[in-house]
Amino acid sequence: MTKNMKDIVNLCANRWFVYPWSEIYGWLANSWDYGPYGSLLKDNIRNLWKKEFIQKRSDTMLIDCSLIMNPKVWEASGHVWWFSDPLMDCKDCKARWRADKIIDDHILKWAKEPDNYAGDKTDSKILEEYISAEKIICPDCWKCNYTDIRRFNLMLKTYLWVTDDSSSVAYLRPETAQGQFVDFPQVARSSRRKLPFGIAQVGKSFRNEITPGNFIFRTREFEQMEIEFFVTPGNDDEYFKVWKDESERFLTKIVWLAQENIRFVEIKKDELPHYSKQAWDFEYQYPFGWWEVETLANRTDYDLKAHMSASGQDMSYFDAVNNKKFIPYVIEPAMGLGRIVLAALCDAYTIEEERTYLKLDPKVAPIKVWVLPIVKKLWDLWKEIYSQLSEDFICEYDEVGSVWKRYARMDEIGTPFCVTIDSDNYDAWNVTVRHRDSMERVVVTIKELNNYIAEGLK
Ligand code: GAP
Repeated sequence: MTKNMKDIVNLCANRWFVYPWSEIYGWLANSWDYGPYGSLLKDNIRNLWKKEFIQKRSDTMLIDCSLIMNPKVWEASGHVWWFSDPLMDCKDCKARWRADKIIDDHILKWAKEPDNYAGDKTDSKILEEYISAEKIICPDCWKCNYTDIRRFNLMLKTYLWVTDDSSSVAYLRPETAQGQFVDFPQVARSSRRKLPFGIAQVGKSFRNEITPGNFIFRTREFEQMEIEFFVTPGNDDEYFKVWKDESERFLTKIVWLAQENIRFVEIKKDELPHYSKQAWDFEYQYPFGWWEVETLANRTDYDLKAHMSASGQDMSYFDAVNNKKFIPYVIEPAMGLGRIVLAALCDAYTIEEERTYLKLDPKVAPIKVWVLPIVKKLWDLWKEIYSQLSEDFICEYDEVGSVWKRYARMDEIGTPFCVTIDSDNYDAWNVTVRHRDSMERVVVTIKELNNYIAEGLK
């Protein structure tokens, strides 16, 4: 059965995963809050990423930089000039469009790229000429009557100090990566690492997206998990392959997204970001189509060189073995945490004859064990079992409704194990563990319970 985005969004709202932000004030469009289960799910994926790429590797380090950096960072990195979308308005119906997007849709529809299209999607004049030559119509009113293209910068502006004039403009970071570049000399010096090594960051980034949407897929505020992996120039192709394999392993063997829902697609030369020599996207097949969850880019020495020239500081690396100084190349696996959360939810959403549930991998599931008291007189024992389990796992306790209704609730939240106890079991110091996917029920001693659950989470 095909999965419907509306059903997944409803389940997320009803079961406290993700819901509209500022709801009491009528919502701010395309802004979402993660509720108690969504936060735990996100936390688990973030922690798995840290475990795989920081804890288990000896060649990476985690840092945590400011969201607002010196505005000169964004001038040097090229974001002030390059990080923009080409926008135009339809003069008839006033709809606003991204010129490059309209052209892509046109090319897809007619399966051709006429001779007059030079293929440079960053040059507004070329875009305007192509749209006019091909008479590409406004998708809303079907006229071809547009304003000139204006470039709309995607960085969110804010103001520091006491005035709000241009001298106090600052930006919320549009990517975490510049923190790693700007801090490279200090981290390299203080950690005394030899190449190759990676500097990683997990945190919020902000973009004034023109077309946010598809639930939490494209938002103006989102979390990134990025590694800047510094290598000797010439070794970059080898490490590009290493990080391709590592990224694929993370998505399919750690978060357990279905292999058939992941593909790796090369970005065309004319669509490469300004800093990159080569880039590939990992795409996930969401119910609304194949879309990017991660970009893997070879950023060359672009960023370090740009900061060296703008700041006048030495950003090079000294290779003591070969007595050589040079600017390293950078391989960057950049994942969007919210997009992986959404992929995990879509992948896990399962409809069977009698029930709908989230078949999340137990390591990713927000709540590992749900304790369901059945017999009221065993109250004290329940509290003991809860406290025994909560030493090792995130658990919850639910005493409302019939046990079948409670199972149905737990299934929708993706809880892999539910624990119940009845009077017969109680006499023998046993509990019953019910498994989410098979719905099998297994009797386990209270003493062995934590080990049993831990085994099931491996
Ligand atoms: N440092 C490189 C960089 O930022 P990117 O492809 O622009 O590259 C990396 O972003 C990842 O961040 C994307 O693959 C995506 O998962 C996530 N991302 C980017 N913009 C986003 C948005 N508006 N909403 C949610 N996630 C976003």
